[in-house]
Amino acid sequence: MTADKIRELVAQMTLEEKAAMCSGADFWHTEAVERLGIPASMVSDGPHGLRKQDDQADHLGVNESIKAVCFPAGCGTAASFNRELLKEMGKTLGNECQAEGVSVILGPAVNIKRSPLCGRNFEYYSEDPLVASEMAGALIHGIQSKNVGTSIKHFLANNQETRRMSCDSRVDERTLNEIYLAAFEGAVKKEKPWTVMCSYNKINGTYAAQNHQYLTETLRDKWGFEGYVMSDWGAVNNRVEDLKAGLDLEMPGCMGVNDKIIVGAVISGELDESVVDEAVERILNIVYRYEENRDKSAVFDRDKDHETARKVAEETIVLLKNENVLPLSDGQKVAFIGKYAKTPRYQGGGSSHINSHKITSALDAAAGISNVVYAQGFDDVEDKTDEKLLAEAVETARSADVAVIFAGLPDKFESEGFDRRHMAMPDCQNELIEKIAEVQPNTVVVLHNGSPVEMPWADKVKGIVEAYLGGQAVGGAVCDILFGKVNPSAKLPETFPLRLEDNPSYLSYIGEGDMVEYREGIFVGYRYYDKKKMDVLFPFGYGLSYTTFEYSNLTVDKEQMKDTDTLRVTVDVTNTGSVTGKEVVQLYVADKESTVIRPVKELRDFAKVELEPGETKTVTFTLDKRAFAYYSVKIHDWHVESGEFDILIGKSSRDIVLTKNVTVESTVQLPFVYTTDTTIGDVKHDPKAWALAQELFKGEIFGALETSENEAASEAISDEMNAAMEEYLPLRGPISFTGKVTMADVQALVDKLNALEE
Ligand code: BGC
Repeated sequence: MTADKIRELVAQMTLEEKAAMCSGADFWHTEAVERLGIPASMVSDGPHGLRKQDDQADHLGVNESIKAVCFPAGCGTAASFNRELLKEMGKTLGNECQAEGVSVILGPAVNIKRSPLCGRNFEYYSEDPLVASEMAGALIHGIQSKNVGTSIKHFLANNQETRRMSCDSRVDERTLNEIYLAAFEGAVKKEKPWTVMCSYNKINGTYAAQNHQYLTETLRDKWGFEGYVMSDWGAVNNRVEDLKAGLDLEMPGCMGVNDKIIVGAVISGELDESVVDEAVERILNIVYRYEENRDKSAVFDRDKDHETARKVAEETIVLLKNENVLPLSDGQKVAFIGKYAKTPRYQGGGSSHINSHKITSALDAAAGISNVVYAQGFDDVEDKTDEKLLAEAVETARSADVAVIFAGLPDKFESEGFDRRHMAMPDCQNELIEKIAEVQPNTVVVLHNGSPVEMPWADKVKGIVEAYLGGQAVGGAVCDILFGKVNPSAKLPETFPLRLEDNPSYLSYIGEGDMVEYREGIFVGYRYYDKKKMDVLFPFGYGLSYTTFEYSNLTVDKEQMKDTDTLRVTVDVTNTGSVTGKEVVQLYVADKESTVIRPVKELRDFAKVELEPGETKTVTFTLDKRAFAYYSVKIHDWHVESGEFDILIGKSSRDIVLTKNVTVESTVQLPFVYTTDTTIGDVKHDPKAWALAQELFKGEIFGALETSENEAASEAISDEMNAAMEEYLPLRGPISFTGKVTMADVQALVDKLNALEE
């Protein structure tokens, strides 16, 4: 329906009907207006499968939803670094939504993994905003290509579960823009999600639902978002202010309470009716976009989609360690140890919980492959060693050629609703791994978890496979990797620190009461570990393959550029091993010299390429201003400081293989206001300004202290100290040191200097 037609429709609605449209009819539907033929529209969770509830609705996954297909969670799909794969997953989800009459699937969830402790990290993508935004964008692209909407969530700065409905995320402007907004920005600008879900928390004192600055000024005015904003379930606390801020749809239904408040506010003049009209127009625009593009032929083929889930899972499994133990060969006697070999932990708890139509465990998948024996090893209901299970497992492992231990985090360790208190795996599992490694030299650990764990046994085992929460087909995918049917190609979208205490947010996560200060600023994840030159267990971007890749011929199409130019970068990648494999080529940019505090380097693009043995492909990247920029709070915009930058190509954030240098010239002059406190050093940066200043001071800045003429002073004050004193001396300084200039003289100079700036 055209915008004009929607406006006409809204004009026919009563104020009461419009107010009612601004909140859900129930848990999952928008309101219908029968007399005008306006249909209700259904939304459902998301994000890694369809959680469509019918009668007994709730938003925490308590009640059953329809049988569906659980795909790998965000933690894993991000590790694929494969945009095309996520598009395919999105198309599959979109088709499922069409078949089930769901207009908007509630996801993807792009919140930054500020701390390994966030209970919902398993749903989130990365510690890096580019990865989060690009992977989410690809999923949105796929889903929306089927004319089904998405709801990118949870906007904004929702990085913990503790007190999620009341906490106040205190984040400085630069950090918000470079890290937390950036995770949404690219996806919103490029892929235009139909809806955005605002989070529960406050941002710098104002609830997300009530935040005009982010819901309207940033989302709509700066980024061009045209869909509707819905609240997270229960995130509305002041309906009128929320509407004014740009929150269109309250979810779930408010039982009519807020509808009355909206009507009252319009009648009293507190709320302009046009604000309500606009919200209703935005909602109806999406309702009709879906209605008019229904695909009645769509079929939810669960078995087919299970295969897609398996294909996705194969690219989400990261090979972390391999000392000639993998892939396993068919003739080997393999002991599968650990409960998760039989009942994998493949998804997390809460609103994203899928009612899987079937689950393939590694044991199911291995049935036809090899000589596989199994021992349970541990129970995850309680963190207590079961001596009998342990002894059985040790014996089973001892008599095999290889032991593969399926371990990880139990549901009660990580979930929506609460945060982890530590980064450890259950003690009983750590003990099991240690004991098995003592008797079996060929031990491999497969991990099922949504967020980093400490691995005290990492040096004692030969192989480590991070399977994340791989969805209902994870068992098949893990076996494909273990037995070499599939070559692992995923990379970590987050750093695995050695210890929780190393994490940059450690000192201030989860805040004090409702106050959560993001004191680490922009130094999230590798931005911090790199700057501190810290050892980590596994770095951002890291992951092994069964083949080897070599990089060569890094080129840039210009060595000098303006910040308005684009830079074309190419690099050749060759598969130098003996099996086909996929490589994630990572491009980082480092600002070599900067007057602002910046990370050592930042990921600015990546590409995944598939190569047969001996094959070479050229990968091309195009970088624009943003790749070199930081967010300047002086101009409230992105800014590039003129100077040298390194273009770095890496196999991981800690394995940079090729570097090229470019010089970028800024076309934007940051405003500079001189005051009597401006330092001499800052004046010297502009030769014209310095010439003016010298006219006043006539070269005499420290008066009698001039070291060359005063022997005692020259002993006490080195040339370096003298130079530093001059550099950091405010313009008003010479008044005291020379006695020859007055404050009026300095003020006159300041006025002249500011005139130069205009
Ligand atoms: C979650 C959202 C979810 C919504 C609906 C909330 O509790 O935070 O992610 O989409 O419920 O289930």
